[in-house]
Amino acid sequence: MSGAAGHPASGPAAGSAYRRGYAAWQEDPEGFWRAAAQEISWVSPPARIFDPDSGAYGRWFPDATCNTCYNCIDRHVAAGQGARIALIYDSPITGRARRYSFAELQREVAALAQVMLDRGVAPGDRVLIYMPMVPEAVFAMLACARIGAVHAVVFGGFAAAELASRIDHAEPRLIVSASCGIEPGRVIAYKPLLDRATELSAHKPAARIVLQRPEQPCAMTEGLDVDYRQAVDAAMAADRLAGCRTVAATDPLYILYTSGTTGQPKGVVRENGGHMVALKWSMQNVYGMAPGEVFWAASDVGWVVGHSYIVYGPLLQGCATVLFEGKPVGTPDAGTFWRVISEHGVSALFAAPTAIRAIRREDPGGAFIGRWDLSCLRQMFVAGERADPETIIWAETGLNVPVIDHWWQTETGWAIAANPAGLGLLPVKYGSPGVAMPGYDIRVLDDEGAPLPPGALGNIAIRLPLPPSCFATLWTADQRFRDTYLSRFPGYYDTADAGYMDEDGYVFVMSRTDDVIQVAGHRLSTGALEDAVLGHPDLAECAVVGIGDALKGQVPFGIVVMKAGTARGEAEIAREVSQRVRETVGAIASLRGVLVVAGLPKTRSGKILRGVIRKILDGERWSYPATIEDPERLDAIAEAVAQMRAGSA
Ligand code: COA
Ligand code: AMP
Repeated sequence: MSGAAGHPASGPAAGSAYRRGYAAWQEDPEGFWRAAAQEISWVSPPARIFDPDSGAYGRWFPDATCNTCYNCIDRHVAAGQGARIALIYDSPITGRARRYSFAELQREVAALAQVMLDRGVAPGDRVLIYMPMVPEAVFAMLACARIGAVHAVVFGGFAAAELASRIDHAEPRLIVSASCGIEPGRVIAYKPLLDRATELSAHKPAARIVLQRPEQPCAMTEGLDVDYRQAVDAAMAADRLAGCRTVAATDPLYILYTSGTTGQPKGVVRENGGHMVALKWSMQNVYGMAPGEVFWAASDVGWVVGHSYIVYGPLLQGCATVLFEGKPVGTPDAGTFWRVISEHGVSALFAAPTAIRAIRREDPGGAFIGRWDLSCLRQMFVAGERADPETIIWAETGLNVPVIDHWWQTETGWAIAANPAGLGLLPVKYGSPGVAMPGYDIRVLDDEGAPLPPGALGNIAIRLPLPPSCFATLWTADQRFRDTYLSRFPGYYDTADAGYMDEDGYVFVMSRTDDVIQVAGHRLSTGALEDAVLGHPDLAECAVVGIGDALKGQVPFGIVVMKAGTARGEAEIAREVSQRVRETVGAIASLRGVLVVAGLPKTRSGKILRGVIRKILDGERWSYPATIEDPERLDAIAEAVAQMRAGSA
């Protein structure tokens, strides 16, 4: 198997810099990362690059000390770049826009950091950030980094119960939030969600710093809530600005909760030193960005793309970063992305394939593209879900720049495989996110862990150790880290992605091997959704599977079994189940549909046959697995799905 050739590479020598770089890393991994580490301003530089005996598979830069906020902001100010633009806030949803220079960013962040110190936040304390896409979300992350606190950003679209479970897991001393978020056509009051989550959680934060937004201010809780702007303005007026605190390179910078097989919070821990080294390397070599240029990752700060490439990566590289509060369509139209690129001089855009599909659906002929001068744009990057070639080709043709797929995970924080624009583009193969980046030795293994030849589909694994920036553990769950990621294939990290590599080393990522689904590029656990569904008092059992969707890639669908003797109507139950998921997990996890059946099909050992259920719902060919206990239950689902289709036709 191999993909069709795509956009031409950047010259006859295309790929030679990449090949040299990858070979240099293979020959001397420590030498490679020692050189990359020289791009960082350390308090005490690493004498040792890697300690193989520490942690589950070793630790990077074990004896170095540093501060991430210093490298993102103060370093540029100290180098005389204080007046250069650091952050561009563009919010078509509110009609506001604002630019912050590095010097202004420094003042905002240092003042907020001081407010945090005043509330008793000490190094290593967690600060939970539950914010919409406003500059203060970025300030809060950097303020934590400045004082050695560990941030845990929770996506603003998650509902109170999800927020509460993360509060209990991270045990934050402080929460930073806002009065509301804004979605097209409606304002979402955050404060009731925050109050409900604080009520539900066993752990109680000492204080909450709340940003009042003019669209919907909120009442403050006496003795608990601090007005963000008042507190920061007071600190600024008194010139009380916190300095950068020195931390160990191996100290955690942040925890980011991500979806696993179960609904239990799974907190990926990112360390300060390795994260800076890898991200700065990636800005230059993967994205080809030079200091002073404008980078735009059209994601949300609540996801890993937002952490790495809205906040840390661009700022480490001295680039300006765009913080966009809007949608690819509807704010106000399918030309918004092109306006932002043109108005702010964006050199590289990073978005989810879903965003392009949404734009294409509304503007198939690309009329909006033609209305803007996009000569500043060098390339577009996509990740977060499988990129269908049709979508990529549409964008490439319309924008007349390379559209580059790359593959990574919350766990790694940066690209595992890419087509490195900064090193000179390799020939593109549509359907592939490119080749292994230095630091990653990618292998495709069969279920017993034996290596497979090129073209053979299997489990994608990475030989240990993982490179800098990749997580070394899960928050308070070392054993779970080992069990989930390192135990299935000893000596390897199990990516939980399935796919193959071709004879040229291009990776093709086809699907997940666990119960995680990617909805509009957002990672959701079907296990967590099942927990939410099963909270319904009339249900005995359920299975949630991800079914194909032309816009969002995948969407969740629920199959439920009612408790014996439940007299209520199926339609009513289905409605309540859908509502429950929206209320407990959030609207982003909305079920596409709910089907009530008499029983779930299982194997003889009691495992629900989710894969076959998905095939039936997707209209794919399916067969009875040899181990099936009750084949008639599959027949009943197939029948119900056929009826459902006939009903909606
Ligand atoms: N806070 C509160 N609610 C949110 C939210 C947030 N931050 N983000 C999304 N939601 C809500 C939406 O309002 C919507 O609610 P509704 O069902 O009541 O209308 C629901 O969650 C689903 O939202 P979304 O997934 O954004 O779907 P959509 O149909 O409203 O929009 C797209 C479709 C394609 C425009 C949108 O999915 C999109 O922009 N996708 C790209 C995502 C992306 O950039 N991912 C990058 C990750 S790297
Ligand atoms: P997240 O941790 O939310 O970034 O999701 C990571 C998962 O998204 C990966 O394990 C893949 O399943 C999927 N993914 C990310 N990028 C790509 C890509 N370029 N192609 C295919 N799948 C991708």
